Parts: sequence; structure tokens; C-alpha cells
Amino acid sequence: MWNDRFATSKYVFGTDPARFLVEHADYLIKGQSGLAVADGEGRNSVFMAENGVVTTAMDGSENAVAKANALALDRGVALNTNVADILTWDWAENSFDLVVGIFIQFVGPTQRAEIFAGMKRTLKPGGILLLHGYTPEQLALGTGGPPFKENMYTDQILTEAFADFDILDLKSYQREVQEGSAHSGMSALIDLVARKREQKG
Ligand SMILES: C[S@@+](CC[C@H](N)C(=O)[O-])C[C@H]1O[C@@H](n2cnc3c(N)ncnc32)[C@H](O)[C@@H]1O
Repeated sequence: MWNDRFATSKYVFGTDPARFLVEHADYLIKGQSGLAVADGEGRNSVFMAENGVVTTAMDGSENAVAKANALALDRGVALNTNVADILTWDWAENSFDLVVGIFIQFVGPTQRAEIFAGMKRTLKPGGILLLHGYTPEQLALGTGGPPFKENMYTDQILTEAFADFDILDLKSYQREVQEGSAHSGMSALIDLVARKREQKG
């Protein structure tokens, strides 16, 4: 389904990074390592690389990853890209300073828990997670995202899921989004910035 959606020369989500990522660009630190999960056509991973983050991107769609590679070439940055299923991705332990998940709500609660566990595992102690998505209010707005309430995030879901992290910022809000043809219009959004705790002892 996703691969067919990306089988067009147009960038379905645009080539500009998500506004969320731009607003959190202070966390993109030159020379640090970053992983962009379900990164799609590369708009976010390329922005990470442009900011000096040594960036690995993964997505399940071959067409999307080919477009991410083309975007990186066009912008003159290096990206380590991977076509891979997030559910079988090797979340190598303590490997990244930064993990970015933007609009990755294609799974329900059980698989979401697996993905969150992987993201936590692959972050280095002290590393930062940037997560951005929709809240259940998005279903009524219908301006992007899957039509499944159970896939949406709430403050409570994220607070519980990242109870073992230091939550630096968590907020739900509505605003106009224009991120390609796929995400367009007033949207119900949620942002999470969380830090993996240093291991004790
Ligand atoms: C809503 S798009 C967001 C893409 C990108 N994060 C962005 O913000 O532009 C969701 C992405 O998840 C990818 N995806 C869906 N199922 C996946 C899976 N099982 N493994 C890896 N990627 C997957 C799709 O190919 C698509 O690129």
C-alpha cells in the first residue's frame, strides 16, 4: 500500500522537514548519530543530515527510500538508508544519540509497544527521542493519518509508555499543517521529547 502511494515522482509529504522537527532543531547536534524511523521520502532524515547529524534512515517502502536517496543527493548530504520492516528491524542496543519518529501511526497498540521498546533500546543513555503524531481528535478533522482511533497517541499513552524516560516536553495542540498533499489542513497533533536515563551503577 505505502509503496504504491510513493510510486510517483511527487513527494507525497513534501521535501521540507516536519515543522515539529524544525522547531526542535536544537536537538540536531553536529557529529551525533541519529535514526529516522519509518522516514518515508527523506524530508526529515535529510534535514537531520543537513544539520550535521550522522543519519540512518529506514522505511518499508522501496520507492520511498529511493526518493530519500535522491533528495539526499540533491541536497549534497550523506544518508545511510535502509528498506526494512520496522517490526523486524534490528534495534541495536545503545547505538544512537537521537531517534526520530514522525507520523509513524500505522500500527495499533500491540505493535506500537514493540516499536517504542525498540526505539528505547537503540537510544544511548542520555539520548533523545523526538516523537510527533496525531491525537484521537484528528479522526474528526480528517486531514491526514490513518482512520484508527487506537493508533493515535494521547498524553496518557505517551506518559505511560515513556515512564522510564525523562519527559522534557509533551504537548497536544491543534494547528494548520501543510506537509505535502497527504497532510494538509487543521490537525490535532502531539509532540514528545524524552531523554533516556543514564544507567545507574
Ligand atoms: C505517514 S508516512 C510518514 C513518513 C515520514 N516519517 C514523514 O513524516 O514524512 C508513514 C511511513 O511509514 C512507512 N511504513 C509503514 N509501515 C511500515 C513498516 N512496517 N515498516 C517500515 N516502515 C513502514 C511508510 O512506508 C511511510 O513512509
